[in-house]
Amino acid sequence: MRVYRPQSGRLVQREEPTPEPRRGEVLVRVRAVSLNYRDLLILNGDHFATGSGGLIPVSDAAGEVVAVGEGVTRFAGGDRVINVFHPDWIAGRMPDTAMGYGNGRDGWLAEYRAVPEHALVALADSLTFEQGATLPCAAVTAWTSLDGVRPGDVVLTLGTGGVSLFAVQLAKARGARVVATTSSAAKAAKLTELGADTVIDYVATPEWGKAVLDSTGGRGADRIVEVGGPGTFTQSLVAAGTHHAEIALVGFVGRSGPPVDFMDLFRSGATVRKIWVGSREDTEDLLRWLAVWPIEPVIDSVHSFEDAGAAFRRFESQENFGKVVITTA
Ligand SMILES: NC(=O)c1ccc[n+]([C@@H]2O[C@H](COP(=O)([O-])OP(=O)(O)OC[C@H]3O[C@@H](n4cnc5c(N)ncnc54)[C@H](OP(=O)(O)O)[C@@H]3O)[C@@H](O)[C@H]2O)c1
Repeated sequence: MRVYRPQSGRLVQREEPTPEPRRGEVLVRVRAVSLNYRDLLILNGDHFATGSGGLIPVSDAAGEVVAVGEGVTRFAGGDRVINVFHPDWIAGRMPDTAMGYGNGRDGWLAEYRAVPEHALVALADSLTFEQGATLPCAAVTAWTSLDGVRPGDVVLTLGTGGVSLFAVQLAKARGARVVATTSSAAKAAKLTELGADTVIDYVATPEWGKAVLDSTGGRGADRIVEVGGPGTFTQSLVAAGTHHAEIALVGFVGRSGPPVDFMDLFRSGATVRKIWVGSREDTEDLLRWLAVWPIEPVIDSVHSFEDAGAAFRRFESQENFGKVVITTA
């Protein structure tokens, strides 16, 4: 089978034996994978949890079961599946031993992968493999970030990365009002098309936190899906107002910015909740919800397996609006 492994920051395609599923494992023929910010960080050796290197990259995949090992009961040949981002986190608190795909264990940029049956969930027929592959990291993160959001709440999303676009779609479907930021007029128009109620250009308006307050009659956001980290947190605190908003602490695409002022945090009354994508239970909850309340994942482009490098370059350009997908068919 064909796989990719990183070598000196580059992806190199290799031929390796197709794995045999061992006891409790399922052999998945990978049909599509999607890229996330962490995949670039790991490839470039920049991820805070980068491991020894040389592991097959990419955390998110969809495919079909082609063989099962002894004792497998959850799946049978022909089943359509997606992986769970944290393969050993079933429910409850995240285990301390969690190891990510691509930095702690081999990931999914391969034609076949054998994984424990507990690390997979069923993919509904209503979703294509390409759509399914967009879900394990970005959509589940948006889902857990929005936990408890009620109709009428104001949800603030930052930029148009994978997590943020799912957050826009899921928040709208939950009856929230969405205020979104982005850096270009073209992406602003697409956000509006996707359902965002208010869009703010964070480059043209560096004090965008105040713009969020202005657009909400001075009250601010109820939930902030904080993907910018050091580059955005200070403005997010402004956007939170003083009414005890919740900040879902997700990421750090805005790599640098002013230090957080304790008194600003104190005055806001905001709760900060760290997100770690989600468990298998969260993934299953999202899929059940999508069966009743379908949303169409936004896909920017689909690349062939041979052209995986082009997919990574497209993703790294940040010109994409939606997920960048690689198919193996
Ligand atoms: N904790 C978790 O569980 C978890 C899970 C998933 C992801 N993450 C983290 O969350 C972050 C987002 O991941 P992703 O995969 O969605 O990223 P992504 O798709 O790579 O996001 C890229 C987008 O980020 C936006 N961006 C860059 N700088 C920004 C800034 N200063 N302010 C606002 N937006 C900015 C840009 O949007 P525009 O082009 O619109 O400006 C860019 O297109 C990453 O740091 C990732 O590591 C964490």
